[in-house]
Amino acid sequence: MAESATLMISVGSYLPERIVTNDELAGFVDTSDAWIRQRTGIAQRHIVAEGEMTSDLARIAAERALDGAGIAADEIDLIIIATSTPDDTFPSTATKVQHQLGATKAIAFDVQAVCAGFVYALDVADAMLSAGRGRRALVIGAESFSKILDWNDRSTCVLFGDGAGAVLLERNDDARGYGVLASKLHADGAHRDILYVDGGPSSSGAVGHVRMEGNKVFRHAVEKLSSVMDEVLQAADMPVTAVDWLVPHQANIRIIEGMQKKMGLPDSQVVKTVHDHANTSAASIPLALAEAVGDGRISDGQILAFEAIGGGLVWGAALVRYGRPA
Ligand code: ACO
Repeated sequence: MAESATLMISVGSYLPERIVTNDELAGFVDTSDAWIRQRTGIAQRHIVAEGEMTSDLARIAAERALDGAGIAADEIDLIIIATSTPDDTFPSTATKVQHQLGATKAIAFDVQAVCAGFVYALDVADAMLSAGRGRRALVIGAESFSKILDWNDRSTCVLFGDGAGAVLLERNDDARGYGVLASKLHADGAHRDILYVDGGPSSSGAVGHVRMEGNKVFRHAVEKLSSVMDEVLQAADMPVTAVDWLVPHQANIRIIEGMQKKMGLPDSQVVKTVHDHANTSAASIPLALAEAVGDGRISDGQILAFEAIGGGLVWGAALVRYGRPA
């Protein structure tokens, strides 16, 4: 009997033109290239231009994903943008992008799960498509974190960057082992105070800035990510050796390498972009995926493992066999 699944058939991304190096940051905040590289693996980040918004990044990434699959915007049924840096409090950034793309048939909304936003939005889109709520979805991670950073706080401002990545999903009734194989999400709001933004419409009326106790977040990261990775492997009934690529959230090279070690993967099976992009929150996984698909490292039929943790805390993982069956 033919089996149905949600395929991931293309990916697109966009990074703002302006690159800010660690040395440039060291010009106005008390830090150094050596400290940032050694503690985080970050060498540079892309930052939006004056007037450039999250919706602009998201739209370009989405257009590239659509072009990659040869699908027109009016063939899309669902657009979800994972973002914590929307253009406005409302309407959602997704509705703006829906209009700009001309995706006239699509419903559109944002999902807010900070750095875990992409895995959250992917799970929501997969659930909706499996329930028959349309055939094709764009899942976009898009962020302008530079807008919510306190540029005087060296413990946070050096860590983040801006960008967007988008994947195109398509429900298929003869998936032959392709598509989303398993997905697991978690949340624990008890840890709110170790990573949050000190503002918002109903608390202060102001947008606020990122606040973080980095070493506490770090302690949760590898433990929670490896446990949820075990859960998805079990749900898909797959050994870790079946994974072709780990495409992790790019927060910190030490977290990525911690997961790599737990999974027993060589460097040649882990996509690392934190060096060039820094932490782009919900955008980091699709940005990393776009880079590795673009340069030919990832190809159709390979099994990808995604994982991410972010403020909340929220965390999750997914296993996807990329592309479509020949
Ligand atoms: N430059 C120079 N010195 C700095 C900087 C900086 N940019 N930032 C902090 N320091 C100093 C601190 O003031 C402290 O000095 P002190 O010892 O004199 O008090 C010292 O460096 C050590 O500070 P720690 O916070 O203990 O440094 P740590 O080794 O934990 O590294 C870091 C900090 C990089 C934030 C790390 O904890 C981390 O990566 N945590 C994970 C959190 C994360 O990545 N969050 C992103 C969002 S959530 C997510 O995506 C997972």
